[in-house]
Amino acid sequence: MTDHSLPAAETLLDATQLPAGTLYRLFSGSIAPRPIAWVSTIDAAGNANLAPFSFFTIASVNPPVLAFSPLRNGDGQTKDTLNNLSEVGECIVHIGGETLSEALNITSASLAPGDDEFSHAGLSKAAMPPLKVPRVAEAPIAFGCRLRDIITFGDQPLAGGLVLAEVVVIHADPGVWDGRHVDNDVLKAVGRMAGSDYARTDSLFSLERPE
Ligand SMILES: Cc1cc2nc3c(=O)[nH]c(=O)nc-3n(C[C@H](O)[C@H](O)[C@H](O)COP(=O)(O)O)c2cc1C
Repeated sequence: MTDHSLPAAETLLDATQLPAGTLYRLFSGSIAPRPIAWVSTIDAAGNANLAPFSFFTIASVNPPVLAFSPLRNGDGQTKDTLNNLSEVGECIVHIGGETLSEALNITSASLAPGDDEFSHAGLSKAAMPPLKVPRVAEAPIAFGCRLRDIITFGDQPLAGGLVLAEVVVIHADPGVWDGRHVDNDVLKAVGRMAGSDYARTDSLFSLERPE
């Protein structure tokens, strides 16, 4: 029987010496599937922006806070979503599901700042008062947020800007949310894997929690 108590030295990688691209592939391949935040924002002039982020999770329930991380691109530039949040501290985090996955993917295109991914992907806008940011009308779940904080990790390529966004208003389609449970047969949640791959959630298994 193999002794797993002491890992062989050659399996230990010095994270400080790994190129960022290698770390990206190791993270995105092994920390998967990841849920996808589909985030709308506006810039100071009111131009809408929409983009997916799978470095995404729940940071707190009470108060309700979501966390996602737009990385700097390969040139070290920050993404429009982060720039917009710095200008107008609001965003809407949508959960799209399988039927909207192609539209979601289209909104990951690198458009010029100020170009509107809603129209690029053929999506409609709906108002979400009291926020100024529009939501994706077609998305069954939308969490309207005010910015709590942005934690930055430097200015090198692929450095994250961790957004902590407090949910202040929610849209939940009654076909998906009955007030107590989300119906995943309708939502058809998807997860992001490495590269261009996505995971479906139509093959689940259950484990009872121990006492
Ligand atoms: C499913 C999916 C998930 C993504 N997740 C992230 C992410 O977590 N962080 C990131 O920096 N970019 C991520 N991207 C790439 C961004 O969506 C892409 O860079 C986009 O153009 C950013 O838009 P913006 O500049 O309008 O903010 C993802 C792309 C896809 C298709």
